[in-house]
Amino acid sequence: MTLAEKLFNCFKSKNKFTLREAYAENGDKPKETIRARIYDNLGIRFERIAKGIYKTVSSDEEACIVIEGDGRDLSMIEDASIDCILTDHPWLDMKSNKGGSRAFAVYDCFKYSLDDFKEKARVLKQGCFLVEVLPAENENNYEYLYQIKKYAKEAGFLYYSKVPWKKGSFVSNTGRKAKNTQDIMIFSKGKARNMRVDKKKTDASGILSYMSGCNGMLPTMFDVGPVSRKNRIHQSELPVSLCEQILSFVTAKGEVVLDSFAGSGVVGEASLNLGRSCILIEILKENIDKIKQRLGNNILYQVVME
Ligand SMILES: C[S@@+](CC[C@H](N)C(=O)[O-])C[C@H]1O[C@@H](n2cnc3c(N)ncnc32)[C@H](O)[C@@H]1O
Repeated sequence: MTLAEKLFNCFKSKNKFTLREAYAENGDKPKETIRARIYDNLGIRFERIAKGIYKTVSSDEEACIVIEGDGRDLSMIEDASIDCILTDHPWLDMKSNKGGSRAFAVYDCFKYSLDDFKEKARVLKQGCFLVEVLPAENENNYEYLYQIKKYAKEAGFLYYSKVPWKKGSFVSNTGRKAKNTQDIMIFSKGKARNMRVDKKKTDASGILSYMSGCNGMLPTMFDVGPVSRKNRIHQSELPVSLCEQILSFVTAKGEVVLDSFAGSGVVGEASLNLGRSCILIEILKENIDKIKQRLGNNILYQVVME
């Protein structure tokens, strides 16, 4: 199976489109409209074989599918089809963001519900990892951060590890509200998959053996500077290298990563850099344009959810 096929298999069959299927399913709409829409939205790696017959470019390379839509609605994704979810949800925390030079998010924010975690658990493969980039704990958000863990547990996730992300050398702790850190919260769906090479067993048997858990010992912290203001294209942009480090612990080459609140698509870039494919969901059109700018030809196709 090519990586492109593997990526398409993450979608419920009604959501896999070809031009012909799109015509058949939208018999009431003029073909030109559908075609224009597909060109606009899906067309980047579609290949015209003959008049009216199109196929997606079959590729062995890692690729990306970009969905303009609501990342809290994963209904188009197959059960147990995703190898890892890495996401930084737009958490609502008005109080902590108040004051000083801290800016309010310019995008819509929300608080997770139990249903969000049930959906994450549904689409993720057994044993695979869910990684949530979370704010540092403080007096305003500690209950919500605890609630997240309770939702995750209720949905079938196990607490795996929490690794702080220290944003470079300047670490302020203004006391009760802001620190220059965030948390990388890692859960596994049920018992964690076996990704850690068991050196002892491997050496003794000559056969590569693995132990339960992610690929290697996690660090005590990820020490990665933030994206500089000058280079930032999104207000809350994560550094690519942070996402690469995280993904190399929790995924293997050729796997599929989902970021359901993709922002500028950093998780996509990190996935591709490491030979993983990804599905990115983002609600704002302006951010979809940023993702396109970032990932260019690596976008296999783009879908707009109605
Ligand atoms: C914290 S930012 C993610 C930043 C991203 N990790 C990056 O490095 O560029 C959260 C993003 O979620 C998007 N968003 C908000 N609500 C959403 C929803 N319901 N579905 C999908 N995306 C949403 C926002 O527009 C914002 O771009």
